[in-house]
Amino acid sequence: MKEKIEQLREELNNHNYNYYVLGVPTISDIEFDALMKELETLEKQYPEFFDPLSPTQRVGSDLTEKGVKVKHARPMLSLSNSYSFEDVVAFSNRVKETIKEDTIEYNTELKLDGISISVIYEHGRLLQALTRGDGEQGEDVTSSVKAISSIPLKLRSGNKIPERIEVRGEIILPWKRFKEINEERARVGEELFANPRNAVSGTIKQYSPALVAHRKPEAYMYYIYADDASFLPQSISERIKLLHSLGFKTESHGKVCRSTDEILEFIKHWESKRDDLPFATDGIVIKVDEIRLQEELGLTAKSPKWAIAYKYPAERKESKLIGVEFQVGRTGTVTPVGIMDPLHLSGTIVRRASLHNADYIKSMDLRLGDIVAVEKGGEIIPKIVGVRTDLRNDGATSPIVFPSNCPECGTPLVRKEDVAAIYCPNSTECPPQIINSIEHFCSRKALNINIGPETIKELYGKGMVKDASDLYTLTPMHLIQLKGFKERSALKLYDSIKDSVSTPYHRVLYALGIPQVGETTAKLLAQRFKSLDNISIQTIESLCEVEGIGEIVAGSIRGYFQEERHTSFINRLKAAGLKLEVETTSEQTITSKKLDGMTFVVSGIFSSHSRDEIKELITQNGGKVASSISSKTSKVIAGENMGPQKLEKANQLNIPIISEDDFLSLIH
Ligand code: IVH
Repeated sequence: MKEKIEQLREELNNHNYNYYVLGVPTISDIEFDALMKELETLEKQYPEFFDPLSPTQRVGSDLTEKGVKVKHARPMLSLSNSYSFEDVVAFSNRVKETIKEDTIEYNTELKLDGISISVIYEHGRLLQALTRGDGEQGEDVTSSVKAISSIPLKLRSGNKIPERIEVRGEIILPWKRFKEINEERARVGEELFANPRNAVSGTIKQYSPALVAHRKPEAYMYYIYADDASFLPQSISERIKLLHSLGFKTESHGKVCRSTDEILEFIKHWESKRDDLPFATDGIVIKVDEIRLQEELGLTAKSPKWAIAYKYPAERKESKLIGVEFQVGRTGTVTPVGIMDPLHLSGTIVRRASLHNADYIKSMDLRLGDIVAVEKGGEIIPKIVGVRTDLRNDGATSPIVFPSNCPECGTPLVRKEDVAAIYCPNSTECPPQIINSIEHFCSRKALNINIGPETIKELYGKGMVKDASDLYTLTPMHLIQLKGFKERSALKLYDSIKDSVSTPYHRVLYALGIPQVGETTAKLLAQRFKSLDNISIQTIESLCEVEGIGEIVAGSIRGYFQEERHTSFINRLKAAGLKLEVETTSEQTITSKKLDGMTFVVSGIFSSHSRDEIKELITQNGGKVASSISSKTSKVIAGENMGPQKLEKANQLNIPIISEDDFLSLIH
């Protein structure tokens, strides 16, 4: 039976490769699913042949490595960036100064805009995947990476593969998936990803293989190391071919250039053509092709001297300004938003762009009907960055008039001294201010309540929720009356609201939406003043003593607590059971040194603690946690369902395996 199972695994791996790496499927989805089912059944029947790298295990396990830091065998360097052709010429001159050869070859590659990844294979089998982290240490994301179909779990090669190889590349999200995911998020009212890079990073860092499998990022590999150097060809371009033959997806538009002019041609060519690619590229990477020459050039502390990245300028396009809307934000600030004829910009269709404030409009002397230049930075909302007054014709004559009353509630607008902002002072009754405050309260970094903006609008519109504290009075019976809600969804939202009461104090503080108090300031305040009551009685001077808090922020905090409606809001939150002070347990870091000098690997499911809790106990008692077993491991703490591979490795290396209870007795 072992052969049959192995044969099915190989067959499925081949189909996966054809589909995800080569993009040429050789069987139908139905046939593929049938083979997978057959393998799953056999694996269940014969658990002794379990293999964590079976194609059934791509999303097979929820046991992820959440945040475990691992040192890279070789630092993951970054590239020095250049923004002009002069920079590129200067780079090639520097190379020529060191290398006195007539022709130097450069491998020019598209710079894929995702997150970099390092994947380690032992005996041709995927062992571990690490993020770049700070370049020295990355995070273990093996389970997530296993769920990326274009990464082989086992290398494809007839040749003898060195014992250990490391492959590096970029995980990206193609535009198509990016758009689909954002559409899906818009439907359920989740915050949109600003760009595919953020989407990939958000996906991998969730430590959920199932989420990775759903979002379908892809990985393109561009670099390989091996402990046996004779395995590797002597140039980057040949190594990329090797990567391809080992089963990796590699980017096919790279080119070997033999002169600076050729490099510049390549850059120019892709500046416009990159819009047609299925994924985002933010530049071109230029690498000296021959490894021998790379070694001669060497490295700086941060980046190799043999490579440089040319970054394309932010994409800028022109369109016609057909209107201006005035949006009222959470704190009452009125922001003008330009409405334009739709244009394609960095992979998305753009109709609205920020105009910042009244002064900005005035300084550009902007008129309706003008042709404007639009740019997209790292944010979701693009900006209007210029106006083509030279193209202005009779159609573009009407100046843009800033309203004198709030477009939402009619209250006369006020201009804030010293800042350019104009705002609506009616914070108690202006609907978008209240709705946006509730949205902020529920957002991911605040109370993380799973609720969309439409639902909040409806709750407010129906008078069921007047401020965020009313959320805690809602029952499933209330929620089921909402548009699109059924029993299950009502219960889910109810649970999400109920669960949010255990949110730590610093996040509740952030959720209050005190003007000028962002996530970081909230953390600083919570660290210094252990309860909200304590913050509320501080003077401006004592608030200013907190590092990072200046007079403006302190004044805003003081002002907030002086308003009766805010203190009564806080009292209602208190009554709902929210945490308004530092929890003593989380503060008590037990500082025993009982596990000093010991390194543990934690595997399996435990009865009285979660895996994260066990890991925390280890570090609190002076020990270290590692994700994979090596000769440096002192003990393996094993719960139920410990992976057979880990078991075998521990036995091989003679490392003691202890139970949860054994472990607890070590520290008590
Ligand atoms: S080579 C030391 N090649 O850009 C060489 N990097 O700024 C390191 N990137 O961290 C990388 N496409 O995440 C290389 N074709 C490519 C790339 C590429 C994207 C990313 C990578 C790296 C960053 C460097």
